[in-house]
Amino acid sequence: MTKLAIIGGTGLAQLSDLTIIKHDRLTTPYGSPSADFITGELSQKEVIFLARHGNPHILAPHRINYRANIWGLKHLGVEQIIAVAAVGGITAEMVPAHIAIPDHIIDYTHNRKHTFFEDENYPVTHIDFTHPYSPRLRSALIAAAAKANIKISPTATYGCTQGPRLETAAEIKRMERDGCDLVGMTAMPEAALAKELGMDYAAISVIANWAAGKTAGEITIAEIEQNLHVGMANTAELLKAFILLI
Ligand code: HPA
Repeated sequence: MTKLAIIGGTGLAQLSDLTIIKHDRLTTPYGSPSADFITGELSQKEVIFLARHGNPHILAPHRINYRANIWGLKHLGVEQIIAVAAVGGITAEMVPAHIAIPDHIIDYTHNRKHTFFEDENYPVTHIDFTHPYSPRLRSALIAAAAKANIKISPTATYGCTQGPRLETAAEIKRMERDGCDLVGMTAMPEAALAKELGMDYAAISVIANWAAGKTAGEITIAEIEQNLHVGMANTAELLKAFILLI
């Protein structure tokens, strides 16, 4: 098996079924990653786990050093990444606690360090990003979900906002018109950086709440935590089934 990494987001700061082998604390040419890279075994296979927001959870999405995280994984020999992230649900199918395997991204972020090819040390480089998520990894995730009997949406467009504030109802309306099914804050530049370094990248999006304006009330942390509890338990099962398939 080629080396696999799992990047855990809000609600998945650690993988409880991971048998830990070692911790690697790296410094990179781009600064410090979010946390130690943890090598361990899941379903008897080696994986590297990284807590995207740090452990404890202290880094807001706009403060994450995405370049250091992706560079560090590449340095450790990782070739495929499964990124887990909490999101808001925009379209009808994306109900709280549900899981989607997104196939597209629209990027609304700004002022993030979003490329490795940023200065005169590199030739001008435009990576192809037609399909931001690896079709091969996505197919394996979808097959694993069927095997583990976990209901998922096999396609979704993820709109990535800057945060850390949540969106206005009008912003969500616009995102829906744009074709977004989900709203989150971390897919970009993470997905593009993985592509720049030639790594396969796919995501498990766990719906934590209805996006702004999609329900009458305000979005509360208590609601998010409750939905993530259910969604992340299913995600852990999905990951175990996925590892047995690849
Ligand atoms: N918006 C953006 N990011 C999110 C949300 C949301 O509603 N819920 C979880 N992550």
